[in-house]
Amino acid sequence: MSALAALISYLELMMDTPMHGQFHLRRHDLSQFMKLDASAVKALNLMPQPELGGNKNMSLYGLLNHCKTSQGQRLLGRWLKQPLVNRHAIQRRQDMVEMFVNDSVRRRTLQDEYLKRMPDFHRICKRFHRGGAGLEDLVRVYQAVAVLPKIIDSLDDLAKEEGMHGQVLEEDFIVPLREKATQLEQYSALIEESIDLEELEHNHHYHLQPTLDPELQQFRDSLLATRDGLDEEHRRVGRKLGLDIEKKLHLENNQVYNYSFRVTKAEANAIRQNPWCIELAVQKAGTIFTTEKLKELSAEYLRLQEEYEKKQKYLIKEVVGVASSYAPLLEELDGTIAALDVLVSFAHVSANAPIPYVKPTVAEKGGSDVIVRGARHPCLEVQDDINFIANDHEMRRGNSEFAILTGPNMGGKSTYIRQLGVIALLAQLGCFVPADSAKLPIFDCVLARVGAGDSQLKGVSTFMAEMLETATILRSATRDSLIIIDELGRGTSTYDGFGLAWAISEHIAKNIRAFCLFATHFHELTAMANQMEWVKNLQVRAEVQPAPAGKSISDRQITLLYQVIEGHSDQSFGIHVAELARFPDAVVKLAKRKADELEDFGTEDDAAKMPKLDEGEVEQGTQIVKEFLAEWKGQSADGSEDEQRAALKALVEQWQDRFDGNAWVKSVLSGL
Ligand SMILES: *[C@@H]1O[C@H](CO)[C@@H](O)[C@H](O)[C@H]1NC(C)=O
Ligand SMILES: *[C@@H]1O[C@H](CO)[C@@H](O)[C@H](O)[C@H]1NC(C)=O
Ligand SMILES: *[C@@H]1O[C@H](CO)[C@@H](O)[C@H](O)[C@H]1NC(C)=O
Repeated sequence: MSALAALISYLELMMDTPMHGQFHLRRHDLSQFMKLDASAVKALNLMPQPELGGNKNMSLYGLLNHCKTSQGQRLLGRWLKQPLVNRHAIQRRQDMVEMFVNDSVRRRTLQDEYLKRMPDFHRICKRFHRGGAGLEDLVRVYQAVAVLPKIIDSLDDLAKEEGMHGQVLEEDFIVPLREKATQLEQYSALIEESIDLEELEHNHHYHLQPTLDPELQQFRDSLLATRDGLDEEHRRVGRKLGLDIEKKLHLENNQVYNYSFRVTKAEANAIRQNPWCIELAVQKAGTIFTTEKLKELSAEYLRLQEEYEKKQKYLIKEVVGVASSYAPLLEELDGTIAALDVLVSFAHVSANAPIPYVKPTVAEKGGSDVIVRGARHPCLEVQDDINFIANDHEMRRGNSEFAILTGPNMGGKSTYIRQLGVIALLAQLGCFVPADSAKLPIFDCVLARVGAGDSQLKGVSTFMAEMLETATILRSATRDSLIIIDELGRGTSTYDGFGLAWAISEHIAKNIRAFCLFATHFHELTAMANQMEWVKNLQVRAEVQPAPAGKSISDRQITLLYQVIEGHSDQSFGIHVAELARFPDAVVKLAKRKADELEDFGTEDDAAKMPKLDEGEVEQGTQIVKEFLAEWKGQSADGSEDEQRAALKALVEQWQDRFDGNAWVKSVLSGL
């Protein structure tokens, strides 16, 4: 309740009197959608990030947004953050996209001729509610309603050609659109009856039909009569002064003097000689004058016009009021048009990508392995200066569900792990995916922990942010989740960081058993693959070529192949990269020496901690442990886990003195 109160206050809904009574509270069923944490939204580049520059292809939203309507664009934004988890619903969208991928002619007609002409019904409805709508809004809706039959015909033909697949089209689009078109027939009649569409077409003025109201008609007739009077006076004065009314004597509606005559300087003398001409002003454009009759007519015309406008304003309010009653219908139409727009846009993007996307096979939750061949990152492959290398993803339950990815920096690790997240998301949106073929289960959530979480602005240190994001993952991931982790444990000491990275991966791999892609610079982590058969090591390939004969070491080349293969690279490429960056030789050499020292340091340290013991002590100690284990084995293995634990504890207490008597046993126990 307090969250809702905060929202109402933030949106200032209580101050918005016209909107009172227009809102409904509805339960939003989150279980219908894939969960995405904030970090995943960022890692998968869902929404445009202004700091990444203006290229719209850099975000999924920008890439997928070929919508022709505002409502379509809004819906796309919503869909992106709420991918589906219901297989049936996903397949319905896929079927629609497939039809429009196959039929490019109809797709283009829909986009460029029909959808483009759909106004933002939602916006117009908002103006209806606030009383701010005008004739222009009514006409825009009217024109859109006139396009509906064309859309329906086009979809209908397509549905007939498609047979089976066409059923979705029929149920989700043709039927609702037809229903709306029928219900809006009366609306169209209302507009034709009320608005002077001819005047609109010829003069671009929005006027009511004078026939709408007798009084309005009367004003209109009087206005026309006065207009005739003005013309008559124009001709009369022209005759009297002997001036051509087309070329020399102009009747104008002057900003200051209202209806008045104007003659050029050459004719000004004629005016002065005729006292019935009342000179008003001498301007650059000529001399302005009037007559008693014209003065009268002008005043009358302006008075009538004012009356007419007043009357019309009142009537417009009434007409708009009647039209407003169609708002709920228009809101529904808005939703249908938006969905059509987004699906057509998906098809457009799928068909127009550098390599066309494919329809992924989506299996029920947990019902499939992840097999994606020739996967590409949709945002990167369209960048002009990148020659994108496709890679496979193969994550099989019980065999390779947890992938540890190592390899040089800049080698494409981040891209590789993110692209699977993007593909999973696209698949659950109902869109096609950038790959040669794809088979995926439905994921209940995509969770990510990537890059430096730049939350310093919020007063959270990078490392704390990293730990918070990771905590979210550990709390919310399930067996059906996809977890993407890019570099964990960088913000602390190496040992500390490695310890965390290991513990977190082991927890995910052992207890959660989610599909997980873990990119890391800790090569030691690859040892986990020996402990659990479903942990697999992957590496991005890089090759170091020897320096050409006679050249210095800094001429050695690293080639990044951007190719992901099985296995782990135990080479560290950091120093090679430093070489490439033309570090002074002395610095590179020192770096290597220090790195070697550090590698030895850990093992020496452990050995130093072991007390020096003579062999007799070790032998005796081994004997004690053997006997202890034998006795424990002899005890019955009944009872719950807790009971057994208690029994073991009691036994250890009995043996404590003997343990303490032997230095070797003591040191072993303290190391546990
Ligand atoms: C689209 O075209 C492909 C290849 O021609 C065909 O296999 C598929 O059935 C078509 N899909 C639909 C929905 O028409
Ligand atoms: C022109 O019309 C306006 C408004 O109808 C009126 O206020 C103004 O006095 C008129 N100007 C002259 C010069 O009559
Ligand atoms: C975005 O990608 C499309 C192809 O999908 C391409 O035609 C367009 O030029 C790209 N735009 C930019 C700014 O790179």
